[in-house]
Amino acid sequence: MSDHVVHVLNGPNLNLLGTREPGVYGTTTLADIEALCRNAAATHGLDVVFRQTNHEGELVEQIHAARGALGIVLNAGAYTHTSVALRDAIGAAGVPTVEVHLSNVFAREAFRHHSYLSPVARGVICGFGPQSYVLGIAALAATRPDAA
Ligand code: DQA
Repeated sequence: MSDHVVHVLNGPNLNLLGTREPGVYGTTTLADIEALCRNAAATHGLDVVFRQTNHEGELVEQIHAARGALGIVLNAGAYTHTSVALRDAIGAAGVPTVEVHLSNVFAREAFRHHSYLSPVARGVICGFGPQSYVLGIAALAATRPDAA
């Protein structure tokens, strides 16, 4: 079983974190975020599969590959605001999915206020920088089926 595994999936442009618009996203790299996620998961006795892709279809396949896992922490980047395919993948996979964003998307441009993913997500966390991921993992651990 992989019910002790959290898949942390990252969409387009997140490979450039650290140098990408640091005024918006800070200087933490994706490798730093991976380390944060692994540490956070370990405190809950969980393992992490950590992935990033710039391609929508690959993200769909990564969501499918998470079937049977405890959950998904998903930062789909701009696909959040555009992708019916990702929304359907989350529904099809049937894995509790926490939508996360580094920035507070609601404090930004209007086109970032709509998410195709939120209606099928278990919950949404945004605006806490890299800690959004840590909080996402904590939320999955706190609500896991065998949690007290
Ligand atoms: C983001 C917010 C999205 O609107 C944007 O397209 C991203 C990053 C975030 O983590 O704040 O690529 O998901």
